[in-house]
Formats: sequence, C-alpha cells, structure tokens
Amino acid sequence: MQQSAKNITLLAIESSCDETSASVCRNGEILSNIIATQKIHEQYGGVVPELAGRAHLQNIVPVVTTALKEANCSREELDAIAFTQAPGLIGSLLVGAQFAKSLALALEKPLIGVHHMQAHVMANLIAENKPAFPFLCLTVSGGHTQIVLAHSPLQLEVIGETIDDAAGEAFDKTAKLLGLKYPGGPLIDKYAKLGNPNAFKFAEPQIPELNFSFSGLKTSVLYFLQKQVRENPNFIEENLNDLCASVQRTIIRILMKKLKKAVVQTGVKQVCIAGGVSANSGLRMALTEYGLQNNIKTFIPDFQYCVDNAAMIAMTAYHKYQNNEFTSLDASPSARAEW
Ligand code: KG4
Ligand code: ZN
Repeated sequence: MQQSAKNITLLAIESSCDETSASVCRNGEILSNIIATQKIHEQYGGVVPELAGRAHLQNIVPVVTTALKEANCSREELDAIAFTQAPGLIGSLLVGAQFAKSLALALEKPLIGVHHMQAHVMANLIAENKPAFPFLCLTVSGGHTQIVLAHSPLQLEVIGETIDDAAGEAFDKTAKLLGLKYPGGPLIDKYAKLGNPNAFKFAEPQIPELNFSFSGLKTSVLYFLQKQVRENPNFIEENLNDLCASVQRTIIRILMKKLKKAVVQTGVKQVCIAGGVSANSGLRMALTEYGLQNNIKTFIPDFQYCVDNAAMIAMTAYHKYQNNEFTSLDASPSARAEW
C-alpha cells in the first residue's frame, strides 16, 4: 500500500567515499544539500580509506547540523533517516550507517538504506526539468561506469558497464601520469579547455555490447609519455593542455559511442548523465550536441548533484518511503552490492 505523499520530510546521509554530505528533502523537494569534501587525500594521490573514515567522523555532526539548519527543519519534523548503504569504502560507509541508525533509534523513525549508484541516477529527478520514464542514464564516477535503463524510480536495469577501470579512474590515473594532483578529473577538464583535442591520438578499445574498457587507454598514455619524455624531458609540461584535451576527447568518445548505441538498441529518446564525471564540461557539451542533432532530450544534473551528495540519496529514499521500502536497524553497510 502506498503512503500519502504529503509532508514527508527526510534526512539523508552520504559517506561512501571522500565526501561527507547531508540533505533534507520534503515531498521530493531538496531543502538543503551540504557537502564537505575531504582535502586530506590530495597529498596521497588517491583516497586513503583509513583517513576517509576518520574525516567522516569529524565532519558528520557539523554537516548534519548545517543541513537541518539550512532547511529550517528540526529533528522532530523528520519522518525517516536515509543513508548510503552500499557500495563504497567500508570504513566510510560505517560512519554514515551508524550515525543514521543512532538517529533513527533515538527519534523512533524508520531507516532507509540506499544504493549509491541507484542514487546517482535519481539525481536527475531533482531538477524541475526532469526526464520521464523510461530514460537512459550514463553513470560515470570514480568507481563505476554504467549505462542504466530506468523503467521507474525504483526499477533500474544496468544494460552496460565497464569491464575494468571506471571513467573517473581513467581521468584520475592519466592525470597522475601527467603529474597532476588527485582527483585529476577536474584538472584535466580545466587544462583541456586550453588545448587541442586532436593533438595526440590514443587507443580506443573495441569492446562488445554496451560495455566499456578504460585500462588500455591508461597503458596507451603511459607508453606514449615514456617514449616522448625520453626524447624531451620537458614534453609533459610543454604539452600539458594538448595532452589533457586529447585524453579527455578519447574518454568522451568511448563513453558517447556506447551511449549512442544504447539509444539505438532501446529506442529510448531521453538520456541523462550522472556521477562525478558528469561534471566534465566536454562530456556535458558532447551530450548536449548529440541531443540537439538527433532530437534526443538530454538532462544534466546541477554540478552539486553530479559529485557525491546526499540530495540524491534523499531523492531515492523519498521514493522508497512512498513504496514502504524500509531498512532494518540490523542491516549492515556493504562495500559491494548488487542492485
Ligand atoms: O561520483 P563521484 O563524486 O565519486 C564516486 O562515487 O566515485 O566521482 C568522482 C570522480 C573522480 O574520478 C573525479 O576525478 C571525477 O569524478 N570528476 C571529474 C570531474 N569532476 C569530478 N572527471 C572529469 N571531469 C570533471 N570535471
Ligand atoms: Zn558516487
């Protein structure tokens, strides 16, 4: 039986990786979305799980307090507490899960565990201009690359995914080869704007169906750089913008090729992107152009809803609440999870 959709107020917590985030959502409208990004990992060239867990512990109380305050919402007004249950770094997930459980227990309100990748897709339902079902979503993050066919808010089907590295990893690992700090994706995006995307050609894999592969690109960039740097030790700094633009063009071509194939195969003409890599300006432009040229409706979440954020967890939880999908206080978070 469906619950009434009136005045459902939820607090959601996201802590799967290196962002501590909390959001308040009322009747499907996001009232606040506070994100604390952990800067500590920059110096290590990647997320250090142990440090991420500790930083979540420090951040969670101020982040939740600010989210409630910004939404002008008291704890007593909450109807349920949602949290990211999987997938993610287990130490990070545990902090959010324990906090959500404690609050649910103290307030005697139900708990709603949310799948992080499902939530990335649902980020597209936050804006006023949202896709109608069914729609396709290319979800591209640091840990995942998927093409999802969304039949309804809670019925999502993965129809393609990476067989090795994720698109975000491809950005971050090539950025590291170029001497850029973690996370490299936003830096590649920044320098790519100043470079020639056709300056260098890198391998594009031939992978069957709607699946992706990015490990070959990383190797192709590595061998290319090793050869060039042997001849000219300053090659990278002299060509940084062109290198970034060329790497970014290759990643976007790999992604768009499969997304276009998915549109043809499914006949679905509404296409979204989601996940951290959907913040990439080149990908956003490529999707928009493709939509305009092919009469396909395209949707791109606001930047704050592309990266890891609790608003997307809240939006998913809102649909779960309406569908009476609650989570037991005994439920454990999980590093890996099927939908
Ligand atoms: O979704 P997300 O915030 O966290 C995960 O669930 O993984 O995605 C993080 C990934 C990182 O690999 C980061 O480099 C990438 O998203 N990213 C970008 C951009 N902004 C974030 N990649 C390319 N261009 C960007 N502007
Ligand atoms: Zn994510």
